[in-house]
Amino acid sequence: MTFQITKAVIPAAGLGTRFLPATKAMPKEMLPVVDKPAIQYVVEEAVAAGLHDVLMITGRNKNALENHFDRVGELEATLEKKGDTDKLRKVNYSTELADMHYVRQGDPLGLGHAVLRAKMHVGREPFAVLLGDDLIDERDQLLTCMIEEQGKRNASIVALMEVDPEVAHMYGVATFEETDDPNVVRITGLVEKPAKGTAPSNLAIIGRYILRPEVFDVLEHTQPGKGGEIQLTDALEKMAAAPEWTGGVYGFIFRGRRYDTGDRLDYIKAIVQLAVDRDDLGPQLRPWLKEFASDLD
Ligand code: UTP
Repeated sequence: MTFQITKAVIPAAGLGTRFLPATKAMPKEMLPVVDKPAIQYVVEEAVAAGLHDVLMITGRNKNALENHFDRVGELEATLEKKGDTDKLRKVNYSTELADMHYVRQGDPLGLGHAVLRAKMHVGREPFAVLLGDDLIDERDQLLTCMIEEQGKRNASIVALMEVDPEVAHMYGVATFEETDDPNVVRITGLVEKPAKGTAPSNLAIIGRYILRPEVFDVLEHTQPGKGGEIQLTDALEKMAAAPEWTGGVYGFIFRGRRYDTGDRLDYIKAIVQLAVDRDDLGPQLRPWLKEFASDLD
């Protein structure tokens, strides 16, 4: 039986230690990328793929995430009084974007544990997972293709990207078999953050997944793995090994633009790349950037 996918789960309960001290009292997902918090791009991506029911997994210190998608009466009234419709539209946009739901993770025991918190809300249907600090450029298609692939194969689908072997130890890395589609591989094994130089391939998992609900059954029995955390990668590896009842796991190879805003360098790159292409900022930023770069040597 195939289901239409309508639900997106966005884990955003991690501690964001790579961004301290900025993330001491503020979620990393609220860091602005140009003029929108990172999390808004992620919710917009889910909605653009037709997923209007969004469950965010949050934690302590994460109230700003809920506030961002809620009304803010005083600000709205002030802008209305001033007749500043442009800013009012920007404020209201995130409020009306999706049907938002929240659940707290309690302790951040790992991404797998965070996803398991979605069990009650999701029920027994396939659903999407979008990591709250991972941005996919809206000009590049990913989620819609993954949803289509899930419908075709009735399996779980993870997004993969070719990475430099030098950085493979920072990701979950796949072993795979090719399929008749050059963009799709069948996953035969996964290893979370392999030791440097031991990655089985250069195809790494990035923060987009379409999962069958059997993932909850597996996560319930998944023990803490790398870093003492309950790893989603470990659960997916078990699913890949038991296609009879899980449908197996396939990888969709993404060749577009992706920014890990939880990483400081990638965050800076994301802001520059998105800003240079904006009509309101690009024309001034581009010549400045060229001059700045030419002075660097
Ligand atoms: P990260 O690996 O980026 O971890 O998590 P982190 O703790 O947020 O960041 P650092 O490494 O300390 O800087 C990947 C995604 O999984 C979520 C995070 O919010 C992020 O979107 N996550 C991670 C949870 O929701 N809960 C967890 O227990 C762990």
